[in-house]
Amino acid sequence: MSARPFIVAIDGPAGAGKSSVSKLLARRLNFALVDTGAIYRCVALMATREGIAFDDDAKLGELLGRVRIHFQVVGEENHVFLGGEDVSGEIRTPPISMGASQVSGRPVVRAGLLALQRRLALEAPSGAILEGRDIGTVVFPDADVKFFLAADPEVRARRRFEELFQKGVDSSLEAVLTDQTRRDAADSGREVAPLKPAEDAVHVDSSSMPLSEVVQSLEHEIERRRAVR
Ligand code: DC
Repeated sequence: MSARPFIVAIDGPAGAGKSSVSKLLARRLNFALVDTGAIYRCVALMATREGIAFDDDAKLGELLGRVRIHFQVVGEENHVFLGGEDVSGEIRTPPISMGASQVSGRPVVRAGLLALQRRLALEAPSGAILEGRDIGTVVFPDADVKFFLAADPEVRARRRFEELFQKGVDSSLEAVLTDQTRRDAADSGREVAPLKPAEDAVHVDSSSMPLSEVVQSLEHEIERRRAVR
């Protein structure tokens, strides 16, 4: 039996269902949940608050040394705290979403956040689920199990819109789709750690699968791998 927590990587584009699936899986398995997109969003929020441009590598590099993040389940939700302040709602607004996509394209930011992402997972008592874009390829290339979750663009945009609506963020389906298309292109087309499945990732298309079925199928695969680790 290895001493390292069991690491589950869940990658895929925005709105593929990563957050909902990860949250349910983490609860069922009693694993820590590291939402790495929320970490990039926190960097964009700090930059915005401090008037730092999203491409100012020198200032972003300095800012990274001050990022203090932890996750905590509050009720049903995985909340993110930046220096003790609950910023879960504020990091989901459209300007911060675009900012997160931009800062995540800066190599200095990606490199500077690696240790934090790994530490948050490795301090988990038994296992951790990390959701993001490059978990299986860069953050934990040796994860115990890797999933790549995909879904049709229209399905993803609708899910994101509904999620925002429930969180009280004012938006429209059209705006979400436009924003998503731009972010998809930026996330997949960038030079550093572009969104792409790891070679050994299990592919799951959730377009016409109910959430419960997706969770069940991932849980089944995780349990299968845990049994032989
Ligand atoms: O998953 P999300 O929409 O909250 O992610 C916000 C942005 O951060 C998204 O544009 C892509 C980027 N991101 C990334 O580049 N790498 C990750 N591991 C997670 C997110």
